[in-house]
Amino acid sequence: MTSHEIRKAFLDFFKERNHLIVPSAPLVLKNDPTLMFINSGMAQFKDYFLGNANPPASRIADTQKCLRVSGKHNDLEEVGFDTYHHTMFEMLGNWSFGDYFKKEALKWSWELLTEVFKLPKERFYVSVFEGDKKDNVPFDQEAYDLWKEILGSEDRILYGNKKDNFWEMGDVGPCGPCSEIHIDLRDQADIDKIPGKDLVNADHPQVVEVWNVVFMQFERKADGSLIPLEHKHIDTGMGFERLCMAIQEKKSNYDTDIFQNTIQVLEKMSGKKYVGKIGEETINYTDVAMRVIADHIRAVAFAISDGQLPSNAKAGYVIRRILRRAIRYGYSYLGFKEPFMTKLVPVLSAQFADVFPELKTQQDFVAKVIEEEEKTFLRTLDIGLKRLETLFEKGGKKEIDGKTVFELSDTFGFPADLTALIAKENGFSIDEKGFREELNQQKERSRKDATKEAADWVQVNELDEPKYVGYDFDSTDTALVQYRKVKTKKGEEFHIVLEETPFYAEMGGQVGDSGALTFTLENGEKFTVEITDCQLEAGLHVHIAPKAPFEKYSIEALQKATVHAEIDKSRHGHIVKNHSATHLMLAALRQVLGDHVVQRGSYQNDELTRFDFSHFSKVSDEELQQVEDLVNAKIRENVRLDERRNVPIDDAMTMGATATFGEKYGDFVRVIIFDPNFSVELCGGNHVKATGEIGLFKFISEGSVSAGVRRVEAVTGLKALERLREQEATIDALKQLLKAPKDLISSVQSLLDERNSLQKQVEQLQNEKLQSLKGDILNTAEEIHGATVIAQQVDVPHADALKQLAYELKAKLQKAYIVLGAVINEKPMLALIIDEDLIKDKDLHAGKIVKEAAKEMRGGGGGQPHFATAGGSQIEGLEKAIEKAKSFV
Ligand code: ALA
Repeated sequence: MTSHEIRKAFLDFFKERNHLIVPSAPLVLKNDPTLMFINSGMAQFKDYFLGNANPPASRIADTQKCLRVSGKHNDLEEVGFDTYHHTMFEMLGNWSFGDYFKKEALKWSWELLTEVFKLPKERFYVSVFEGDKKDNVPFDQEAYDLWKEILGSEDRILYGNKKDNFWEMGDVGPCGPCSEIHIDLRDQADIDKIPGKDLVNADHPQVVEVWNVVFMQFERKADGSLIPLEHKHIDTGMGFERLCMAIQEKKSNYDTDIFQNTIQVLEKMSGKKYVGKIGEETINYTDVAMRVIADHIRAVAFAISDGQLPSNAKAGYVIRRILRRAIRYGYSYLGFKEPFMTKLVPVLSAQFADVFPELKTQQDFVAKVIEEEEKTFLRTLDIGLKRLETLFEKGGKKEIDGKTVFELSDTFGFPADLTALIAKENGFSIDEKGFREELNQQKERSRKDATKEAADWVQVNELDEPKYVGYDFDSTDTALVQYRKVKTKKGEEFHIVLEETPFYAEMGGQVGDSGALTFTLENGEKFTVEITDCQLEAGLHVHIAPKAPFEKYSIEALQKATVHAEIDKSRHGHIVKNHSATHLMLAALRQVLGDHVVQRGSYQNDELTRFDFSHFSKVSDEELQQVEDLVNAKIRENVRLDERRNVPIDDAMTMGATATFGEKYGDFVRVIIFDPNFSVELCGGNHVKATGEIGLFKFISEGSVSAGVRRVEAVTGLKALERLREQEATIDALKQLLKAPKDLISSVQSLLDERNSLQKQVEQLQNEKLQSLKGDILNTAEEIHGATVIAQQVDVPHADALKQLAYELKAKLQKAYIVLGAVINEKPMLALIIDEDLIKDKDLHAGKIVKEAAKEMRGGGGGQPHFATAGGSQIEGLEKAIEKAKSFV
């Protein structure tokens, strides 16, 4: 079976058993601060396990792109050196949300492996959880009995400890005991020597876990405790690449058709052969490099197509590090000196077009981003490697100090783990502690915001379901649910949750609303709380208030208070104009620049809209104007808003809705339409009732954010008018200043012309002064030991003049030895020029001499034997420095 057929057989098997087949979630999960990347199939379903949301079906199956490069599950170090670990891999999974449990899950997995895929039964081992005292979870007797029945014997059932048989998503979150299925793929002769069960979970490349069936029963809390979940669920994960290795009877994941495409291209590009021998004593670095690259390109390409661009922080840095690791392997072991990773993108996108179409649609963009990253790193890679080589050659202590590791990362873009890897290949290690200290010092230097410290919520009323009414109303009467006090850098603030609210919480680029809450207590007393912002937290609209008098009142009093919540309508009006204008702008950008324009970031407040999108070159003034014209034409058309709520996602897509890349949508979406032939977008934000409200749309800036991503800023409505007025006022003021009521441009031009001619006169005067100075100085020349010596402080305007003077003086003298000092821009400066003959006769070196002399004025310098300069920081030392330089003759 090909890998395509294997994947399809898996999904069909569960479809026949009433599972809903869903697409893979993007690798980067928004709104989950506990995970940097999706690390398992269940991550996108976390809320279903915890009971925070309802699944669309009680049985689901899929293949999920996973990345294990950070946090609890991190395999990066192994990748390339072994044959079965990956950064990105596919996890096939089936789920039951409070539906079937252990019996069906285990039975089906066995049936699929042995009857559909026809893998030999005698090659399998299964494991069950032995129990854990500390967590108070008992031995899994039920799974043991089930396996005994399925296998018809106990011989192949093993006990597993907490590390192997209790699965947790992260430090916190859903978890439970699990049962793993391992397969022994060794040759029979080897099996006869060592039985497979001795090699289970022992990192043997051919005795590997293929499937993990987790019995989700608990939630791990931040304090380490386990609490039982309301329902019991099934979460399974099968490593797709390993499964293909087993079915295709290979000894390495890289020998399957999943990776062979890429490896063959790499062979062609490098002219080197992939040997792929297993169990070699010495490491074959050509093979390692090809495996690393074939693996890493998947992680990087899919991450970028899911919206995670390489960058210098957080998830973006992880992607950059993976990419750089691959580049360096290609550079050092396959001889690639030009970008090469980018050429692999089309290979992947074709291979995965039917399962993960997002790469195909984004192919050019992804290739471009990778190419730019490669170019940048290749520029410094060579120098960095040479720097490391000198250290390796030096020998001595076989450790690279923290400062060097830091410099390599800071100046040459070598991530520390890459330096560590190269060091290891050369029998060195790195001083990680020292590196971290350097890093911390830098962080300390650039530290800005202190984190906020929040007290616990004070519960006032129960909340059934939070309600947002802002699509229809500006104000509402409601009740207080909870509040908390938060210490911030500036002081403190209050966070407030209401039963229902008209306040939009910041999301999808649109900022949160501001406004006021007026409380009326039962006894008629009233107070008002000003709201400056509204943020989303775990699905709740959290209203932020600089101050609130809650602590003065009893919980009962607050419980019974009515709360009139009203947003600042004027500010909200500006925000929605900017938001609707952004939709029109995206549609116009795509018309003018092309369909490759995809939203990469967006922000709208009451001042402006800021919008990032994929595009490879600067947007010209002409193009910007075309976009402005299109948007303003739509504004003048006064197109009515067509807002549709709860549209099934498939219908929305048929309407041609633009979705934001990397964003995960539910089954029902809201669609915002301004002219169905112009702008149709999935969006949860607020909008104008008709485009005419926007009034006017004007770009104010265009620039680059990162490789392949442009940023534009624009203003609308009153703000656009204000801006035009400001510019008019500036022009008026200039006209008055220049006393040029009509032709401002020619007035400025003549001012510039005048300035240029004055500049020339000044230079000429300075030159004349220098010539007369030269005469005076020549008169001071004296003979010392056969040299004609001048040593003097002179008055020159800049460093070039000092140099010129030194050269001109030398030309006039035999065997010249000339020391000139000057104060330039309030700093002392020294120049020394020595005749070639003197250099030979007396073994002098101007560079070395000025370096010595500069110490007198707290400075340094250097240069060639015949001419050198030095700078310093102490003017008082200049005279001494001149004397010192002179003394060498
Ligand atoms: N969530 C389980 C795993 O990743 C299936 O192994």
